[in-house]
Amino acid sequence: MGDPVRTDELRTLFLFLADHDFAGYSPTYERIARHVAASPELLEFVDRAAAPNSRRGRVPVLFHAALHDLALTGTSTPLARLMAGDSSVDAAAAVDLAIAEHGADIVTTMRTRSVQTNEVGRSAAIAAGLATIDTGDRAIALIECGPSAGLNLFVDRWHVELLRDGTVLGTFGPSSSPVQLCCELRGPDTPPIGPLPSIAARTGVDPAPIDASDPVQARWLRACLWPDLPERSARLEAALSVVTLEPPSLVRGDAVTDLAPLVAAADPELLPVVLSTWAMAYIPADGRASLVAALDAIGTRRDLAMLTLEEPRFTPGIDSVDQFTSAYDDEGDGTPTLLSLRHWREGSVMTTPLAMCHPHGRWMAWSDDGFDHGERDDG
Ligand SMILES: C[S@@+](CC[C@H](N)C(=O)[O-])C[C@H]1O[C@@H](n2cnc3c(N)ncnc32)[C@H](O)[C@@H]1O
Repeated sequence: MGDPVRTDELRTLFLFLADHDFAGYSPTYERIARHVAASPELLEFVDRAAAPNSRRGRVPVLFHAALHDLALTGTSTPLARLMAGDSSVDAAAAVDLAIAEHGADIVTTMRTRSVQTNEVGRSAAIAAGLATIDTGDRAIALIECGPSAGLNLFVDRWHVELLRDGTVLGTFGPSSSPVQLCCELRGPDTPPIGPLPSIAARTGVDPAPIDASDPVQARWLRACLWPDLPERSARLEAALSVVTLEPPSLVRGDAVTDLAPLVAAADPELLPVVLSTWAMAYIPADGRASLVAALDAIGTRRDLAMLTLEEPRFTPGIDSVDQFTSAYDDEGDGTPTLLSLRHWREGSVMTTPLAMCHPHGRWMAWSDDGFDHGERDDG
């Protein structure tokens, strides 16, 4: 018999995901999440399978990814058919069978892996954000916090179309790119469309950087995607085709301690731009504060910028989140995600919220006035 407080907490998390993230987006994951939430035995299994020190809020997504990974190995046939989108498969039976036959494999995956979704769709928002940075005619050194396989470090290689009501209002990147991203603009404002800064260096810090050329590691990237979304799979495969030929140099480490030294060491001719997309949620609050404090200290000595695509509550320089979340918290539309720029220039620092975005880049609601947060001198 498991701890009822812990299993109740997990039930709430699975139902939250089913209602807010999977509904209307990934029906297969919605069915799985609702089945687990309704089964005390499965909730106990997930509770036991999770590493003792795991961040509880991330456990259900990790469980789904572990199931998906098992399906991709092809060893559990009904599960593989379910994940491949066969709606005739009984989701509950497929999951129960997979756990009965391969429960130990799922536990191993959950103990040895973490959620490492490398979502190339985020490059649409990243490109729009990069285009706003006043680099002072310098090329940039792009340094990513939590890059996973580093696919978004190649944002300038992907073709992005920004559309409103089906009309293309602007593009970034080469039209011949194998990665084609479409992002729907919501609301009246349109981001400034201009050339992206030239990216002269690309690196990142991750506790488990993924080598996309390794088949097992690449399978984990695929497992971290949700089923039912062929466009996500297609852009991952297209990005992998580029990145496996030109692997980025990623550092194994903790961004809390290992990112600022990379920033400080960046070529003085370049403007360092720290990029953080859906990574801050995986770093404890005190670690996030230390990381930003270290960047603040560097910002007293040299210009730098930090572009974040994170939940508002994890975004550096944002104190009050209400104006960002209330208008965008539609069920089934994913967790509202804020694109924000923190720019240290000549010793002072400014935070500018730029846009609310779908977490995987499907849409973006640009704000010319920073959501009334306005440009603010934080220095
Ligand atoms: C959800 S993935 C996002 C990956 C990528 N940023 C993207 O948006 O496609 C979160 C990433 O953060 C990394 N991560 C977790 N804790 C970290 C830490 N303390 N320092 C750096 N990266 C971390 C994970 O390993 C994982 O690759």
